[in-house]
Amino acid sequence: MTVHAAVASSVLSATTLKGLAFANRLSVAPMTRISATAEGVPTERMLRYYERFARGGFSLLTTEGIYTDKAYAQTYKGQPGLADRQQAEGWKTVVDAVHAAGGRIFAQLMHGGALAQGNGYRGDTVGPSALEPRGQQMVSYHGEGLYAVPREMDEANIAEAIAGFAQAARLAIEVAGFDGVEIHGANGYLLDQFFTDYTNRRQDRWGGDIGKRLGLSLAVLDAVREAVGDEVPVGLRLSQGKVNDLRHKWAEGEEGAAVVFKAVAESTADFVHLTEFEAWQPAFSETGKSLVALARQHAPDLFVIANGGLHDIIRAEQVLDAGANMIALGRGALTNPDWPRITAASGALRPLALDMLSPISDIKDSELGY
Ligand SMILES: Cc1cc2nc3c(=O)[nH]c(=O)nc-3n(C[C@H](O)[C@H](O)[C@H](O)COP(=O)(O)O)c2cc1C
Repeated sequence: MTVHAAVASSVLSATTLKGLAFANRLSVAPMTRISATAEGVPTERMLRYYERFARGGFSLLTTEGIYTDKAYAQTYKGQPGLADRQQAEGWKTVVDAVHAAGGRIFAQLMHGGALAQGNGYRGDTVGPSALEPRGQQMVSYHGEGLYAVPREMDEANIAEAIAGFAQAARLAIEVAGFDGVEIHGANGYLLDQFFTDYTNRRQDRWGGDIGKRLGLSLAVLDAVREAVGDEVPVGLRLSQGKVNDLRHKWAEGEEGAAVVFKAVAESTADFVHLTEFEAWQPAFSETGKSLVALARQHAPDLFVIANGGLHDIIRAEQVLDAGANMIALGRGALTNPDWPRITAASGALRPLALDMLSPISDIKDSELGY
């Protein structure tokens, strides 16, 4: 009974995104592992880390958040970059290994903004408004204490950030050979700081209602599209919660979500990656629709990747039924890098065990199996 249910699961069905074929609906969520060199170049250890997910049957991997420029983008010490050719060539070895193992891999491009806590290029931080971020720096990424108050970005800083995303995307495709690009618009980092009501108090064209606050993400999407051309899959990751405010909800509720998903559908984005704590739950009230269902309603043709607590196959199937095209596993993939193969063979999955993330969330030998 279990055997047949698992083998027939919708998570194991094939799909395509912009001409890229995927053997199943299972992808690895982006996960920062601060294991690059001091110069931001990917290491052999990172190659092994990514390769094992492809070997384990995940048809798509999204990298950890990669910094985009040598100004204000780097967020964590040990984070890899795509801000120069050497970093991009380092990524090429990772991409080649993933391809050789039968997987596809998208680069997640990120700018930390006010949450930067380990930038090797600058001692200060920037953000949409000069407001101290909520919460505390992340200890498992070498942080300590409160976040600094950022300097309000001027037009030149904003142009520099946009250009950084575009240049990093070009290096990702032309040098590293990634299959696509994901713009990190979620989880409290720079683009989400512009998107969020209480971190963006700007009176200029980058602030205002939810549509205006999405403006920087849309500008980045445009610049990235221009840099990589029409054929490359490009998408945007969005969330409600943030690393420094886990319970945040979009202030404009379902009406705001309609504005956002319509705008993304009209942009040049091919996909949206939605992350919630539990992706199947109503997004704003006890009984309303999930963010995935709202995206499907307002952006009928957009490819939707759903993330959040989906390592339980029943929940993953439920979210595919609600309109997602693919699911992404974070903690479930760390614990079971071979989740797709185990599931296809109706084997037993290991329960979530995340000792590897403490005290520092880098890549451990035990995790790699040597
Ligand atoms: C160690 C770790 C690092 C993460 N780093 C990132 C990141 O770099 N970019 C990102 O968008 N999300 C990041 N996340 C969030 C995950 O992509 C995912 O949204 C979260 O783990 C919830 O999914 P899950 O329930 O499948 O674990 C990270 C999560 C973990 C556990």
